[in-house]
Amino acid sequence: MNTLGIESSCDDTGLAIINSDGQIINHITSSQHEIHAKYGGIVPELASRDHVKKFIPLLQVLLEKSAMTMDDINMIAFTNGPGLLGPLLAGASLAKTLGWSNNIPTIEVNHLEAHIYSPMITEKNLKPPFISLLVSGGHTILSSVDDNFHITTLGSTLDDSAGECFDKIARKLNLGYPGGPEISKRSELSNNNKFIFPRPMIKSNDYNFSFSGLKTHVINTIHKLELTDEHINNISYEVQSAIVDTLISKSVEASKNLDIKNIVITGGVSANQKLRKDFSCIKKCKAYFPDVKFSTDNGAMIAYAGFLKTNSSDFKKNFTIKPKPSLTL
Ligand code: KG4
Ligand code: ZN
Repeated sequence: MNTLGIESSCDDTGLAIINSDGQIINHITSSQHEIHAKYGGIVPELASRDHVKKFIPLLQVLLEKSAMTMDDINMIAFTNGPGLLGPLLAGASLAKTLGWSNNIPTIEVNHLEAHIYSPMITEKNLKPPFISLLVSGGHTILSSVDDNFHITTLGSTLDDSAGECFDKIARKLNLGYPGGPEISKRSELSNNNKFIFPRPMIKSNDYNFSFSGLKTHVINTIHKLELTDEHINNISYEVQSAIVDTLISKSVEASKNLDIKNIVITGGVSANQKLRKDFSCIKKCKAYFPDVKFSTDNGAMIAYAGFLKTNSSDFKKNFTIKPKPSLTL
């Protein structure tokens, strides 16, 4: 049984095919970063149009690369939210149209759940229970995932997400979009860290985050400077350190308090190399990350979450393949 995964919740068009063993056969992602870079953020209407333009050519390439046709696809999994309405509608329309015209059942996948399980695509031994830290452009959520894949939220950001904090500061530093990878690159050039920024809510005794105060603090600092390349590198270094320290501190606290050793870090910010390195230095916990190519939005994680869902007993009990309705004109 092969599942086609379709991701289009934001600015990445992602398609993938996964087989009945949960192995990715092929995947393809087309990013819209160049389209949105000049605006310093995503323009939803441009995003929707680009998904619509790319879907069919990308699907053709994916099927060709996999030596398959739509006859080889048995299930279509697509992102049904959260995300931008237009891009989500574009993906849902593709999934439903392909499903209807080829008599293939479709299954809705929650984008956040797909991120949370994405390390399992390559880490075949990873299973719940684990602590999940989901850090993307839209969300910063700490949760616990129990043996039955039930997710309990422990805390989340009260304002900006970690990714948003990277993106908004990068914009202020004229580093382009998305900001996370740019700040990361510039922080590697820093050799003399002159700035000290707060680690927000680090002692709040709960699992919530807040990044808007850090963002404002950094923006106020930038306003007071005649910005040089050296300033940009040093500010980038300290911003990255403040975000990484905060994320690690809360996650390790949750792992200790709930006595769950494994921590699974996912979402676009999980591509950050300092976050990966610093988590790996913590001996009390074992950190798991997705393959870097599955950190940011992609179709493979949607196909994989669809695969997990179709293999769960709850799903099998309630799911019947509906016959293709006849079309009367
Ligand atoms: O999960 P994602 O691709 O899209 C959403 O679902 O939001 O996450 C995008 C976010 C952006 O804020 C981007 O700046 C951030 O992930 N990001 C990074 C890195 N790569 C992407 N942040 C820090 N370091 C990176 N290397
Ligand atoms: Zn995402």
